Amino acid sequence: MTNVLIVGSGARETALGLKFLASPQVDQVYVAPGGDGMDIVGLHSVAIDVMDFPALIEFAAANVALTFVGPEQPLVAGITDAFTAAGLPIFGVTKAAARLEGSKTYAKHFMAKHDLPTARAKSVQSLSAALSVLDEWGVPIVIKADGLAGGKGVVVAQDVDTARAAIDRLYAADAAAPVLIEEFLAGQEASVMALFAGQNAVILPLSQDHKRRYDDDRGPNTGGMGAVSPLPQFTQQEQAAATALMRQTVAALVADGVDSCGVIYMGLIFTAAEPKILEYNMRFGDPETQVLLPQIQNDFYALVTDLMAGKQPELQLDGQTYVGVVLTHPDYPVTSKPALPVVQPDTALLAAHAWIPAAVSKTAGGLVSTGGRVLTIVGSGTDAGSATKAAYALVQQYAGQLAYRSDIAHNALVTSKQN
Ligand code: AMP
Ligand code: GLY
Repeated sequence: MTNVLIVGSGARETALGLKFLASPQVDQVYVAPGGDGMDIVGLHSVAIDVMDFPALIEFAAANVALTFVGPEQPLVAGITDAFTAAGLPIFGVTKAAARLEGSKTYAKHFMAKHDLPTARAKSVQSLSAALSVLDEWGVPIVIKADGLAGGKGVVVAQDVDTARAAIDRLYAADAAAPVLIEEFLAGQEASVMALFAGQNAVILPLSQDHKRRYDDDRGPNTGGMGAVSPLPQFTQQEQAAATALMRQTVAALVADGVDSCGVIYMGLIFTAAEPKILEYNMRFGDPETQVLLPQIQNDFYALVTDLMAGKQPELQLDGQTYVGVVLTHPDYPVTSKPALPVVQPDTALLAAHAWIPAAVSKTAGGLVSTGGRVLTIVGSGTDAGSATKAAYALVQQYAGQLAYRSDIAHNALVTSKQN
């Protein structure tokens, strides 16, 4: 009996669970804390919080051969170090490596030290220092709170008033706040993710999230409204440059002695000259995971455990394009209340792994939403056009009262530079 524990409760964790469950070696997949939606797709929720390390360790020791961590908070707090101290195998970066995501200032030092291309930046810790950088550099300019902010700590200011207001707000909350001020970079954003262990890495195709709440990239930032992968709008040369940056990052972690194993997520911006690194996350992206994992043909349990055993697995992809559309509460990201009905998936949808639940609960009256990002619908096809069509055909059927963006994959649909 080989069982796996996934730590987390989003659609990312559901997608990971389904991928592990598809391995011929895996019997059961548990998700902590999971949710009712996970049980509907064949996973097993376990009511343990992602930060309750002693309870997770006790459960893992008794029930599973491997634990895989989804979200950043437990990684930054040292879940991997705690499992390792208890002698339990876990796939997720150590607390030391998680600082690349947890501290933007540390990430900037890391990139400078290892010649990894990124926006010019200055760390400041006072209102006057922040204002003098603004004076010197002018606008457009980017103001970032240091630390985990769930994507909400960044202000891209096109004018001085917006920049000034962002700086005032940060220093009103904390007079010594660590703030990063960055040069504005123009270009299309995309991400590259890799599973790595030591110097070995399995680098996945480029993917693109859509962070703004509304069509045409308007409205507030969210956790992510939809994703597409791979991305035909980038040339082979651009894709190769992104892969090279990932290899350079893995080598840099080894050189710094903070390698371990886990996931690296590089948020890139493709400027006219070259891709530059906007951010590191040391975990899979959500919703990118929902469109990356289905491309992988390898036995996923073997891929992860081979990496952990010091081997270099060869990635096999299916060559298809996947589009994921996130269904949200209509008031997200402001509020996710009241709960709304969720349309019951049929067996064909479940069998196709096209319905990837996050915040779904079962009640006597049927399924209801329990959060902002409720589920991801995934469609596939031979190219971005057919995958988008397939995804939206399902969205029409299953959205019910939930909201969504109707332009996911719009950049991938414009004529490819290669063609
Ligand atoms: P971050 O959390 O650092 O990735 O920033 C969130 C978002 O802010 C990014 O996805 C970009 O859209 C934008 N952003 C961050 N830094 C820059 C920059 N230097 N230039 C332009 N846009 C940026
Ligand atoms: N989709 C963006 C993230 O997971 O950070």
